[in-house]
Order: sequence, then C-alpha cells, then structure tokens
Amino acid sequence: MPANDALSFLKAWTLAPFRMGSVTPSSQSLAALMTREIGPDTGPVLELGPGTGPFTRALLERGVRESDLTLIESDPDFAALLTRRFPAARIVEMDAAGLCHLPVFDGPVVGAAVSGLPFRLISPRKSSAILEGVFASLRPGAALYQFTYGRRCPFEQTVLDRLDLEAVRIGGTFRNFPPATVYRVSRIRSLSTYDWRFA
Ligand SMILES: C[S@@+](CC[C@H](N)C(=O)[O-])C[C@H]1O[C@@H](n2cnc3c(N)ncnc32)[C@H](O)[C@@H]1O
Repeated sequence: MPANDALSFLKAWTLAPFRMGSVTPSSQSLAALMTREIGPDTGPVLELGPGTGPFTRALLERGVRESDLTLIESDPDFAALLTRRFPAARIVEMDAAGLCHLPVFDGPVVGAAVSGLPFRLISPRKSSAILEGVFASLRPGAALYQFTYGRRCPFEQTVLDRLDLEAVRIGGTFRNFPPATVYRVSRIRSLSTYDWRFA
C-alpha cells in the first residue's frame, strides 16, 4: 500500500465515518479474495467505492486491462487520486445510487463488479437502488463481489428477493483489519421466468 494511503483514509473517515465505513484501506489478502474469480477474459469491470484503490490494483494484477475499468467514487479527493493513479481507467465521481437513473454503460456489457461500499451502513432502499443499477449493467451470469466485516450478508434478504438475486459466501480472511468475509451476488436463474417455457 502506498505510504500516504492510510493517512488519507483516516482523514476521510474522520470527516465522513458512515460514508467510509472503515478506518483503513483493505489489505492485499482481502483484495486477492475479492478479485480471485476475475481475470483477463472478464472484459469490462465496474468498481464501486474504490477509495485509494487496493481492489483496483488487485484487478490489474489479475490481468484486467486498465482501460476496461470503470471506477465509481463519490469522494472528490479519492476520485482525483484515482485519476492520477489509474490514468487509463474511467473514473466517475458520483454516488453509486445514481447508476439506476444515469447508467454509465450502454446496456448489460460488464463482466464483473467489485464493491467496497459499506452496505451495512446504507439503507435498504438505497442498497436496492445501487444493486438495481449495477445489475442493469452486468451481463447474464456476471456477479458482484462484496465484502463485509459483519457476521451476516450485508444485504437484506427482502432486497435480494425483490431483485431476484442470491448472495453466496465465497471466503473470508483474518489478514485484514477488521477480518472480512466476501460474498458473490448473482441473479437467480429461476425456472419460473424463462426455462419452463422451453423445458
Ligand atoms: C470502506 S471504503 C472502501 C475503499 C476501498 N475499496 C478499500 O477496500 O480500501 C468505502 C469507499 O466507498 C466510497 N463510497 C461510500 N459511499 C459511496 C456511494 N454511495 N457511492 C460511491 N462511492 C461511495 C467511499 O468514499 C470510500 O472510498
């Protein structure tokens, strides 16, 4: 992690603790877990709340092209830092909840989404708007990867049900402060919506 990142993060947390949700950037161990199912063939990748960019760096190490990255960050200082650090990526300074009204892709073209947003501190209504916007951009079969410091999935079951999504725990790490768990969120392939007509 670049030397000043911990300090910038702490400063942002003192100004907006609920928006940050953490006092320190994610570790390499958590970044590796968040990105391990993503690779050079994934194509365009959407990242929400990149902060100082630990998951962004891990995505590049996994072989994702910098020009395939779209980073959505609401903090202007982090957005400026990311623009300097990842000049070939597309950095959009906005609230991720805006994705459902102002899509940043032309249809469902994204191969994977990675999120550092503190969903445990975000209302179910706003979480639902963010998920709706993200899944409108994801290709069929593509997933969103989300970590949490809590014991349970950070998304309410009612929100997942309404959007026909399921969350599966794919791993956890103690080599992060605090220890974290990662979930893969994907669409439920429901017999009732498609397959039954062709079964
Ligand atoms: C817990 S930090 C995670 C930062 C980085 N991904 C990491 O793991 O170190 C949350 C990040 O999400 C950003 N953020 C919070 N709410 C947001 C929102 N509604 N839209 C876009 N970015 C948001 C914060 O500014 C911060 O950079």
